[in-house]
Amino acid sequence: MVFNIQGKVALVTGGGSGLGLEYAKILLRNGAKGVTLADIDSGLGNVALSQMNKEFGPDKTIFVTTDVSNIKQFEDAFRKTIETFGYVDILINNAGILNDGIWEKEISINVVRIHSKCK
Ligand SMILES: NC(=O)c1ccc[n+]([C@@H]2O[C@H](COP(=O)([O-])OP(=O)(O)OC[C@H]3O[C@@H](n4cnc5c(N)ncnc54)[C@H](O)[C@@H]3O)[C@@H](O)[C@H]2O)c1
Repeated sequence: MVFNIQGKVALVTGGGSGLGLEYAKILLRNGAKGVTLADIDSGLGNVALSQMNKEFGPDKTIFVTTDVSNIKQFEDAFRKTIETFGYVDILINNAGILNDGIWEKEISINVVRIHSKCK
């Protein structure tokens, strides 16, 4: 199925780098109204925001420092998206880590964030 994303607003967790940043670029290249990059790493996020502003203009992307394992920060990312763009249509819940040495944190980020989204 092909979705029409013209005018849609997306929130991309882990959007400061890697696949998340690429998803955000693809959404804007295909007509999305706005994208929020929500990432725990504000250094990466600000570099990503500059790249996005350069390619798409200054009013299409915001960056919100967000740890998805912190429900208040996760909710804040939604709140700031709605304040800026008016609504949220798409959540790309992409943030994740692969490090079994810190498995409790890994579960908290990779699994609990999905559960909290489903409530
Ligand atoms: N790249 C692959 O081949 C591949 C394969 C299978 C699954 N995945 C999954 O896809 C997702 C993205 O992969 P990637 O290669 O772009 O990873 P990446 O490590 O390059 O990027 C992950 C991003 O998530 C952010 N992040 C980490 N913890 C966070 C947290 N608690 N809250 C918010 N942001 C957080 C990081 O700062 C980073 O910007 C991950 O969940 C990964 O496990 C990737």
